[in-house]
Amino acid sequence: MHSPFRQGLNVYPDGRALSKNAALLFIACFEKAVSEKGFFSALLSGGATPLQLYFLLASKEYSGRVQWEKTHFFWGDERCVPPESPESNFNAARQSLLSRIDIPPENIHRIKSELAPDEAARQYENELASFFDLGPLAPPPFDLALLGLGKDGHTLSLFPGTKALEETERLVVANHVSALGAWRISLTFKAVQEAKKAVFLVSGKDKAAVLKDVFDGKDLPAGRVRAKELFWLADSEAAALLKD
Ligand code: 6PG
Repeated sequence: MHSPFRQGLNVYPDGRALSKNAALLFIACFEKAVSEKGFFSALLSGGATPLQLYFLLASKEYSGRVQWEKTHFFWGDERCVPPESPESNFNAARQSLLSRIDIPPENIHRIKSELAPDEAARQYENELASFFDLGPLAPPPFDLALLGLGKDGHTLSLFPGTKALEETERLVVANHVSALGAWRISLTFKAVQEAKKAVFLVSGKDKAAVLKDVFDGKDLPAGRVRAKELFWLADSEAAALLKD
């Protein structure tokens, strides 16, 4: 099947078109994974950009094209807040997607952000090892890893200048982000390197400068992500400073 998506940059007219194409990519990844091994593992990103995608996936137009009982959701990072907090990435996904689809609770692998950060990180590493039946600290082969891009070039909760950027062994760490004055729990670069498809979703004019910096090769966390296949889906506002 010819995919309309190519590794590297894919630009769409606006956020809605970006989200619709991201939904089609999600479904294509689901179909491939389930046809090959009977289940689909998707790493969800936080922040605002993916929410339109999550609502679309839960909508009548798309929801029926995914067998949710064969779909497993994981998170790339989490704030150190209770799961019902408006700050929680899990809570945002629950409101926009999980509460609107018929998915078994055991398929929702949230980061237990109510625990102490280090404990939550270690527990999530165990969750990944047990679900993917891997040796300790072996990078999980996520079928799809959705990633966001912060204006400062962070992705997951791998912020510039933070300790987690240098982590080469662990899969999940507690990362203190002085710029936020807060702890975050984040997957590391190692944890996403075996993802079959890593897909950045980038929308809006406030991301144009940082997207250009990443594509110009500036040393930013998002630019250090490696995966088996790496896709960037951006709307025209975010891609405005990129040369054709
Ligand atoms: C988070 C996210 C983070 C996000 C970027 C972009 O916890 O905030 O995981 O990495 O993807 O900050 O966020 P926006 O989509 O809101 O710009």
